[in-house]
Amino acid sequence: MIEEVAEAKQQAVKEFASASCAEELERFRIKYLGKRGLLAMFLKSIGKLSTEERPGAGKVINDAKVSVQQAFDEAKERIAVANQGEVAASSFDWTLPSYSFARGHLHPCTQVMDDVIDIFVEMGFKVETGPEVELDYYNFGALNTPKEHPARDLHDTFYISDDVLLRTHTSPVQIRVMESVKPPVQVISPGVAYRRDAADPTHLPMFTQVEGLMVDEGVTFSNLKAVLGEFARQMFGEERKTRFRPHYFPFTEPSAEMDISCGICSGKGCRSCKGTGWLEILGCGMVHPNVFDNVGYNREKYTGFAFGMGIERIAMLKYGIDDIRLFVENDLRFLKQF
Ligand code: PHE
Repeated sequence: MIEEVAEAKQQAVKEFASASCAEELERFRIKYLGKRGLLAMFLKSIGKLSTEERPGAGKVINDAKVSVQQAFDEAKERIAVANQGEVAASSFDWTLPSYSFARGHLHPCTQVMDDVIDIFVEMGFKVETGPEVELDYYNFGALNTPKEHPARDLHDTFYISDDVLLRTHTSPVQIRVMESVKPPVQVISPGVAYRRDAADPTHLPMFTQVEGLMVDEGVTFSNLKAVLGEFARQMFGEERKTRFRPHYFPFTEPSAEMDISCGICSGKGCRSCKGTGWLEILGCGMVHPNVFDNVGYNREKYTGFAFGMGIERIAMLKYGIDDIRLFVENDLRFLKQF
């Protein structure tokens, strides 16, 4: 047995010295020094020896164990140092900050739409929506624009059939709301509208609007001016002025367009505002009594105002963008600026 122990010791020292990585070393450790390893087996088999042989064998095995343990410790140290060297020698710099990933964000028109909605919701308006595929009646008829009315020419309409069309503005939602609730009414309706226009710097066949409607007893044009003036202040800032110009819409009387002073020349007149110092931002007016008749509201008792604005146009004015088509071209060089 003494020779066997000596042989095992030699073998163990050789294997530990040859171990090239921590996993291999661990395998050898289990083989020789483990609970059921070779040296443990030798210790166990001492019981089978004669009483005279036992002390000598015990000493030989324990000495072997010390040497094998020492060989193991040396190998462990050698492998640890080698690993450290490898890490230091590699070109990987653990202290560098990680790559940042480009994150998406909301489209500029969505951001402007959210801002517009927030401003009106804070003033007490509720949000209502309606269908984009609309009946002729809601888009025109109920809005005091019967068939053959000349104002229909202004809206180049996508017709689906004689009576069904893609809505040319968000005003039909006014009718749907008034048909379903009694005054007081105070709603805005954001949504998409369509006109058969070729795309150019100021037109898109599909664009976004926000409609507003407020109806109650005693609502006046002063209320309209106050609400829209406050909107312009919050949207464009204190320093921009507003003005109302007479206009025509079949469904409002009187009708107006609201302008804000040009932000580029501060109202002095420049190329952006075509020398006028003003930029048109929305259409508005007092709800026409015929519209009240169409929805069953008492035209003697109630008055109201309505307004409609193009979100792309507001975004263009806010950010100084001169071509509406940029919003739909999905050019990241453009979109990333917002
Ligand atoms: N619907 C009109 C348009 O698209 C805007 C408008 C809405 C005007 C409400 C007056 C009142 O041009």
